[in-house]
Amino acid sequence: MTDRTTTPAPLAPGSVIGIMGGGQLGRMAAIAAARMGYKVHVYAPEAESPAAEVADAWTRAAWDDAAALDAFAAAVDVVTFEFENVPAASVAGLAAKRPVRPAWTVLETTQDRLSEKDFVNRLGIGTAPYARVDDVDGLVAAIERLGRPAILKTRTLGYDGKGQARIAAEGDIRAAAEAAFATIGSRPAILEGMVDFGCEISVIVARTPAGEVRCFEPAENEHRNGILHLSRVPARVPAAIAAEAERIALALAEAFGLEGLLAVEMFVTRDGRVLVNEMAPRPHNSGHWSFDAAATSQFEQFIRAVADLPLGDPARLVDAEMENLLGDDIDRWRDILAEPRAKLHLYGKSEAKPGRKMGHVTRLGTARSNS
Ligand SMILES: Nc1ncnc2c1ncn2[C@@H]1O[C@H](COP(=O)(O)OP(=O)(O)O)[C@@H](O)[C@H]1O
Ligand SMILES: [Mg+2]
Repeated sequence: MTDRTTTPAPLAPGSVIGIMGGGQLGRMAAIAAARMGYKVHVYAPEAESPAAEVADAWTRAAWDDAAALDAFAAAVDVVTFEFENVPAASVAGLAAKRPVRPAWTVLETTQDRLSEKDFVNRLGIGTAPYARVDDVDGLVAAIERLGRPAILKTRTLGYDGKGQARIAAEGDIRAAAEAAFATIGSRPAILEGMVDFGCEISVIVARTPAGEVRCFEPAENEHRNGILHLSRVPARVPAAIAAEAERIALALAEAFGLEGLLAVEMFVTRDGRVLVNEMAPRPHNSGHWSFDAAATSQFEQFIRAVADLPLGDPARLVDAEMENLLGDDIDRWRDILAEPRAKLHLYGKSEAKPGRKMGHVTRLGTARSNS
């Protein structure tokens, strides 16, 4: 495999950015790319694609369709992702023909909760205590080692709280282990000790192939049923915690040799430590506030990083709160539009299934003074 990811060459406007994945993250990235004069070609297998609706071209094909991947590579100038569970072999094939940003190694590490946590800990950055689990016996041993309450998570393919089972503090250990392992589909997993956090925050960092790095300030995130409900900037944490969170995100971006965006979800413990929960090498739901409230949005920054352009200023211009619109929440669109400082974003999805991300609203606060 020829690795061309390090070839430094800013991509000129008019070039084609290939995005693997067809969801709302790709949609908002495509909108940012179009504004900057780029063409976007989406690769996504689903029948409906929020990203393809606003892109210049769409390859609708399976993730492992070799002929479709070849044609896609031939049609684009650079490849990136808004979905990180693309098969390794498909990415390797693309990387032989075009720069792929971020590199496959970043996706590989972050796809698997075990390799992800190992990577973070090797850098001396903390996470929840964790143990590898392959079967019920292993889970019983892990519960005895880490204690309860704890949380069992599939190593791969989990999102929005899916593929997780909580293990309560009380009750028979073996019965709890059997039930939890069955709940996640008896798949390779990790057990995590429950973190007693004061709040959750996330930092999105951008790094270009040329090595320029910039962080968005931490957002404070509230989850409901394992799904992000609200992100608030500024986060209500002391300046030292915010600085530590940014230091961690920068260290991770450098360790990966990142080319693109990395979102880092973190726990702030009640005793003032910052632990990494998980990472995503792409734009992130907790950065949607930046579309309306920052000098440069995460989506513009994403395009800049992937195209090897100078990064923009990620500074927040106004305080903001982003609320996700899940399922039937979308029915509130008329009321939201009537709010004077609310920015409504809908993703064009036809079916409002419960828990499905249909859109979001960012409510702008007071303008930041220059003093
Ligand atoms: N070890 C933990 N301790 C406490 N809360 C947790 C832990 N792991 C996950 N959670 C809660 O569940 C949410 C979703 O878990 P996460 O690992 O981020 O999975 P997903 O990939 O579904 O977002 C977290 O944002 C947090 O609120
Ligand atoms: Mg998460």
